[in-house]
Amino acid sequence: MNTVASLPLAPRLLIKPSLACFSRKDVGRYGGIKVYAVLREDGAEFARNNNLEALFQVDDPGPRAPVKKFLDVNEALEVVRFDIQYCDWRARQDLLTIMLLHSKVVEVLNPLAREFKSIGTLRKELAELQQELEKAHNQQVHLSEARVSSALDKLAHMETLVSAPSTAEPPTSSSLSATASSTARVRAKNKQPRRRLDVSGPVKPYNPSLKNFWYPVAFSSDLKAPDTMVPIDCFEEQWVIFRGKDGRPGCVQNTCAHRACPLHLGSVNEGRIQCPYHGWEYSTDGKCEKMPSTKMLDVRIQSLPCFEQEGMVWIWPGDDPPKATIPSLLPPSGFTVHAEIVMELPVEHGLLLDNLLDLAHAPFTHTSTFAKGWSVPSLVKFLTPASGLQGYWDPYPIDMEFRPPCMVLSTIGISKPGKLQGKSTRQCSTHLHQLHVCLPSSRNKTRLLYRMSLDFAPWLKHVPLMHLLWSHFAEKVLNEDLRLVLGQQEGMIDGANVWNWPVSYDKLGIRYRLWRDAVERGADDRLPFSSTQAESLS
Ligand code: FES
Ligand SMILES: [Fe+2]
Repeated sequence: MNTVASLPLAPRLLIKPSLACFSRKDVGRYGGIKVYAVLREDGAEFARNNNLEALFQVDDPGPRAPVKKFLDVNEALEVVRFDIQYCDWRARQDLLTIMLLHSKVVEVLNPLAREFKSIGTLRKELAELQQELEKAHNQQVHLSEARVSSALDKLAHMETLVSAPSTAEPPTSSSLSATASSTARVRAKNKQPRRRLDVSGPVKPYNPSLKNFWYPVAFSSDLKAPDTMVPIDCFEEQWVIFRGKDGRPGCVQNTCAHRACPLHLGSVNEGRIQCPYHGWEYSTDGKCEKMPSTKMLDVRIQSLPCFEQEGMVWIWPGDDPPKATIPSLLPPSGFTVHAEIVMELPVEHGLLLDNLLDLAHAPFTHTSTFAKGWSVPSLVKFLTPASGLQGYWDPYPIDMEFRPPCMVLSTIGISKPGKLQGKSTRQCSTHLHQLHVCLPSSRNKTRLLYRMSLDFAPWLKHVPLMHLLWSHFAEKVLNEDLRLVLGQQEGMIDGANVWNWPVSYDKLGIRYRLWRDAVERGADDRLPFSSTQAESLS
């Protein structure tokens, strides 16, 4: 009864039976408990003398819940988990009652049964059943919902306490309001202020700090032929990528210096891009090297630092000198790339990243594609044991990482198709690796680069038309998201906050926003969750 666990930075938790709960009939199979947070060794005394309010109250902690006087936060977390199981059980009971009532209604309406009853009797029976059904819906389901929601809130709060020492968020700007400190929590009542983000209104012009990164803009395979030109929009400017005489890619502005004709409508001639209007030719560094039918002038168009690495072409759109490292985006060894797809999408890149960094939406949104038949888990979490922007989804066998400035990498364990839940990626024998690059084209346009790799069936790569099948599937999945993200974008432009009420499974998306917020504030040398994986330029 007197065990006191010690946890740095987190308050200790005092657990005590709740008399109110003990005396309540029909609530709790094993008696309720209340949990208090205390910071001192003499916590029990302290709680009593200071008349503390319970941090949370658990109606039904379950038979296996620890019954000690003091719990550490992990044990307290277990208690809340038991409570959620109980809520789940209650919800099932309520659902069963409603289903039974439904079947009774069907029975009453059954034409065979009707023959033996007068219309008056039928009406009466039906009215009674309707009343019962309404009551069940209004009371039981809403009660269940409230119980589950309150239990989930408790769990989210406990998780904050458990992870406080290792995943503390960095200080944020004025657009973010942080939660109270641990000391304040002791005095806090059951509810604590929520972390909020404000992402509303039309997308603001891009902050120049966001440009000071290497951005992948094309796959090398899209620039295979020497005369290929790839026009791209990046931060609301038009560029064109092509290969120079030496075979290396270059990136120049997509507007002719003469009379602003788009260069990508022209051709590539011996490593120079030729304007289709009067034939001016530019090298990959932007210098005009040919000016037919007139005296040669010293003319140059803008160009950007451009490199090719591991099958992708990268540009540096910022004003700062380019960094000497480019991140590696290759899948782990043992994987074979099966598809490289590029799509231009009519949404702001941040909204698309928010969407890709969220897996909890899958069983609701992707019901015709990869999440067909998935059940809805009672709790979805993103755990970040390695670094702040890298972790895995519980209960899905999916590892995920946000790689600044605009990349999402994920590895999905595939044991049996459609049976994803309940295993970690390591337990799965086969995997799918995905890379999503969301290039900020303009304030309502994203260039998406998608690369898919598998660590099994390498021969699939040689099956004719297989790439069309992958493209079709990728587009189908994306379209399931796109209509929702487009709706969010419309709402956001009209002033809705797309991060109004973040919950525990929104962790990775929120961290992306915190990272971006820090970049835009100019906190370059103290960026939160900075990535460590980078490859040197060769
Ligand atoms: S507009 Fe390009 S050469 Fe005249
Ligand atoms: Fe999705």
